[in-house]
Amino acid sequence: MTSIESELRDRAVQHGQEHVFAFWDNLDGGQRNALLDQLAAVDFELVERQAQLLDTSATDEHTELNFSPPELFPLERSGDGERQAQAAAEHGAELMRAGKVAFLLVAGGQASRLGYDGPKGAFPVGPVSGRSLFEIHARRLRAAQARYAQSFDWYVMTSPANDANTRAFFAEHDHFGMLPEQIVFFPQAMIPALDLEGRILMSAPDSLFLAPNGHGGTLAALRSAGLLERARKNGVETFSYFQVDNPLVRPADPLFLGLHASRGARMSSKVVSKRDAGEKVGVIGKVNGVLGCIEYSDLPADCREARDVSGRLAFGAGNIAAHLLQVDFVEELTAMQLELPWHVARKRMNVVGPDGQPTEVDGAKFETFIFDALGKSAQSVTLEVAREFEFSPVKNAEGEDSPLTARQALCSLYGDWLTAAGEELPAADAHGTHPVEIDPLVAEDRESFLGASVPAPIRLPAGLLYDRS
Ligand code: UD1
Repeated sequence: MTSIESELRDRAVQHGQEHVFAFWDNLDGGQRNALLDQLAAVDFELVERQAQLLDTSATDEHTELNFSPPELFPLERSGDGERQAQAAAEHGAELMRAGKVAFLLVAGGQASRLGYDGPKGAFPVGPVSGRSLFEIHARRLRAAQARYAQSFDWYVMTSPANDANTRAFFAEHDHFGMLPEQIVFFPQAMIPALDLEGRILMSAPDSLFLAPNGHGGTLAALRSAGLLERARKNGVETFSYFQVDNPLVRPADPLFLGLHASRGARMSSKVVSKRDAGEKVGVIGKVNGVLGCIEYSDLPADCREARDVSGRLAFGAGNIAAHLLQVDFVEELTAMQLELPWHVARKRMNVVGPDGQPTEVDGAKFETFIFDALGKSAQSVTLEVAREFEFSPVKNAEGEDSPLTARQALCSLYGDWLTAAGEELPAADAHGTHPVEIDPLVAEDRESFLGASVPAPIRLPAGLLYDRS
């Protein structure tokens, strides 16, 4: 027995997890090494703490929590508010021109609700161009580079499960016109899933059942990938964090950056007004006085339906998961072992049972969430933005927040710009959508579209494309 094997066996025994060696005698050398590598990365003390959550999390929902709405920088602004917004946007643009920002995309999720076999960012969503989510994001970032005469870093968090496919997708598409050295892929950590007795599940005789540790894992992964140092060396002060699933996201927003910087915020959020009480988004708000995000499923029904004096949902600040985080904030949070709260997701899981045969069991995955760091930022801006301009995520294969609704949202936004420019819209399709798409490199918003020297549209079978290739 090697010393590593004996040390890991001891550790497993100490923590009541010796069953992970159950199939050892039937494994060949390569399989044994693979299993040992996985076990060496397991934090058994953490597994023990997570197992304890399995006893309490079922009853947690009855704990008394006190929710209150956040202070918003609103979308509808008075004269004074508008003056503040303009000054902030100018300041934000200056910071962008000075290269103080790096973009941070989280794309480590498993796209299970969408049922797409591949990294979610490879999903084609451009209504006319068929461009992928990754390409749409890349084009927005390239547009920002042109606007601010800067070369920005783009950090893309993957997971070990989709890292190779994500890198290959970018390489096949020549990094969508960005320089390969600007884009840094870094995988988040994976941690074991447990059965409901707290035992580590096995996905194969030589493999633990591992799952991504949630987007809260971004913080530690930035540090371990050396990206905090890289950001600091490049003079970057702020990470602009965004999710892969939203083709309307505007990560290079001078207003957001300027507000965040001028208020000395260390982590800030964008929100949209919830569509209705039932929309399945988290809401930014305070829980027992501490700023955070309350997931849809955790918001008590009376809060979900409650309205303020003006008739708006009292807890209507829908989280679109676009955040700004100061680099020194992430440095501080990760300097010592950061432990954001663990959220437990109970699921049926395909595993190998004690007899080595495939079976399905009830299990639990554990994730931390980035927005749980909000409460650690003494100052924070919650900026309300327009949904039709900034939020239409692709989450589900059909129905709400699906590829169809995202494509419709893109067409409706671009159709609005065309109409404002006095252009004729192409005929509507079977869903009543006028198929038109404007490349972010042509224009980023209606004003810039009206002011831009717009190239002649390309008529494609799918519709009208204004493109700057
Ligand atoms: C998320 C937010 C919700 C918000 C909504 C907006 C959570 C728990 N909730 O919901 O408050 O209103 O987005 O669209 O996040 N990811 C990783 N690694 C992981 C897990 C996720 O990189 O381990 C990435 C995914 O690739 C995706 C993003 O995080 O880009 C969101 O993950 P997802 O689980 O889809 O969140 P939602 O439930 O949709």
